[in-house]
Amino acid sequence: MNKKIIFGQNVIENKIKVLGQQISNDYSKCNKDILMVCVLNGALMFFSDLIKNIDCDVFIDTMQVSSYGDSSVSNGDPKIVKDCSIDIKDKHIIIVDDIIDTGTTLKFLKEYFLDKGAVSVKIAALLDKNNCPDLGDYVCFDCPKGFIVGYGLDYAQHYRQYPYIAELDGI
Ligand code: IMP
Ligand code: MG
Repeated sequence: MNKKIIFGQNVIENKIKVLGQQISNDYSKCNKDILMVCVLNGALMFFSDLIKNIDCDVFIDTMQVSSYGDSSVSNGDPKIVKDCSIDIKDKHIIIVDDIIDTGTTLKFLKEYFLDKGAVSVKIAALLDKNNCPDLGDYVCFDCPKGFIVGYGLDYAQHYRQYPYIAELDGI
């Protein structure tokens, strides 16, 4: 399948450093625990880069939500496949995801964490297709509305390992 690289590795890493610094500054005076939650599998690469650039004390955990199955078409009904193991109550939660598309998954997760007693819930995303303004609190890049792969993002489980972000042709 043809692809067009839209963000290269250096650009991504530099932007993640800036985002990490911004998050560190915003949370430096927090008097409650901070929990950063990686939404598997798409946010894996972004998450591991981001947490290396956070210089306040944070807990980390992972969760998995299914909404796309194995295709590129969302069924719009998120379900928790793997939950966090760390208790959410009384913590500041930063959800880290790969991309904000319709926003369905992240709105669902935000509600979920608030229901579990989180003090606050913010969203960090590598990419934003801008269909859902104001949902992302920390976003690396706005991106085209086409189908995006690489740096953790997949098309039917392919292309996640690319160290760059690309747009696929003909999807
Ligand atoms: P939502 O539509 O915002 O709920 O997006 C749900 C999930 O679909 C995201 O977290 C991604 O894992 C995946 N997704 C949405 N758009 C793309 C894309 O362009 N490429 C790869 N995955 C995507
Ligand atoms: Mg995802």
